[in-house]
Amino acid sequence: MKTIFVVGKGGVGKTTCAAATAVSLSKKYDILIVSLDPAHNLGDVFGSSLSGKAKSLGSRLWAMEVDMERAIRDYLEESARKLKGMYGYLKAINIEGYLDTIRLSPGIEEYATLEEMEKIISEGEGRYEVIVFDTPPTGLTLRVLALPKISLIWGERLVKLRKDILSKRLAIEKIEGEKKFVLEGREFKLSTREEKDEVMRELVTYMSEVGKVKELQTDSRRTAVMPVMNPDRLSLFETKRALDTLASLAMPIGAIVVNKYGGKEEENALVAKAEKELGKPIRKIPLLEEEPVGMDAIEQFSVFLKAEEWLPRG
Ligand SMILES: Nc1ncnc2c1ncn2[C@@H]1O[C@H](COP(=O)(O)OP(=O)(O)O)[C@@H](O)[C@H]1O
Ligand SMILES: [Mg+2]
Repeated sequence: MKTIFVVGKGGVGKTTCAAATAVSLSKKYDILIVSLDPAHNLGDVFGSSLSGKAKSLGSRLWAMEVDMERAIRDYLEESARKLKGMYGYLKAINIEGYLDTIRLSPGIEEYATLEEMEKIISEGEGRYEVIVFDTPPTGLTLRVLALPKISLIWGERLVKLRKDILSKRLAIEKIEGEKKFVLEGREFKLSTREEKDEVMRELVTYMSEVGKVKELQTDSRRTAVMPVMNPDRLSLFETKRALDTLASLAMPIGAIVVNKYGGKEEENALVAKAEKELGKPIRKIPLLEEEPVGMDAIEQFSVFLKAEEWLPRG
C-alpha cells in the first residue's frame, strides 16, 4: 500500500488537489482519500456528505473525513484506561489529576492525529492500493509527521529507564524475596522481568507501531508528499520552510503544485524563483473562473494535475 500526503497552507487548494489525485488514480487503483483536516471540506468538494466511515464514491474510490474531536476524546480515554490499568495500585498518586493535566497538555491533537493515521493505514492495508491524505494546515501537519521520529527517541530512553527500574527491583527481590501486596482485595506483585512487565510491553508495542509509520513515511517506494502552494511570495516562504522540515524528516517530496496560476508576469517570475529555490519540478494549475466543486469539475481539474507523477514507484 502507498500513501500520498497533500500538504500546504489553508486555502491554497489542498483538498481540491487531493480530491483530483484520488479521482484520477482511482481509474487504475483502489483509492481511499482521507481528510485529517479538522476544518473538513472534502465532502463539499465532492458534493457528498462524508463521515468517519469510508464511503464509496466510485467503483474504486472511497472517501472519509475523520472526526478529530472524537479522535482526541478516544485518544484521552484510551490513555486513561492504560494508565489506570498499569498504575491503578499507586493509590498515593492521583490518577484523575494526571488525566486532567494530560487533557490540557500541548501535543494531544498531534498524537491523536498520528493515532488516527496509523489506524487508517493499518486497516487499509490489503484493502486499498493508495491512501491520499488531505492534511491539516502546514504547522500541525509537520508536527504530526515529526512525531514518529521524536517518539522513537523518547521511546528508546524510556525503555532504558524501565530496564533500570526492573533490574533494581530484581536486585531487591533477590535480597528480600518476592514482594506482594493486597489492595482492595486484589493482590499485586511488582514485575521484575521485562517479558512480564506491562509498562515495558506497552512501550515496545507503541514503538513498533510508530516505527512502522516512520518506515512508511520515509520510503520513497511507498510514500510521496504533494506540496501545494499559490503563486505568491508568502506561499513560497511557507513552502520553503515546510520542505526543509520534510527533508529533515527524510520524507520523499514529489513535484510542487502551483495552484491558482493566473499567468501574470509577476507570477511567472515567482514560479521561476520557486523552481530554483525549491529544487523540485513544478506543475502549474490555472486559476479557474469557477471553483472546481463536484465530481465533474474535479475530473476536469485532474487533467491539469497529472496525478500519476506523485504515485510512489516501487
Ligand atoms: N485552480 C483553482 N481555480 C479556482 N479556484 C480554485 C482552484 N483551486 C481551488 N480553488 C478554490 O479555492 C478554495 C480553496 O480550495 P481548497 O481545496 O478547499 O483549499 P484547502 O483545502 O487548501 O484549504 C475553494 O473554494 C476551491 O474551490
Ligand atoms: Mg481543505
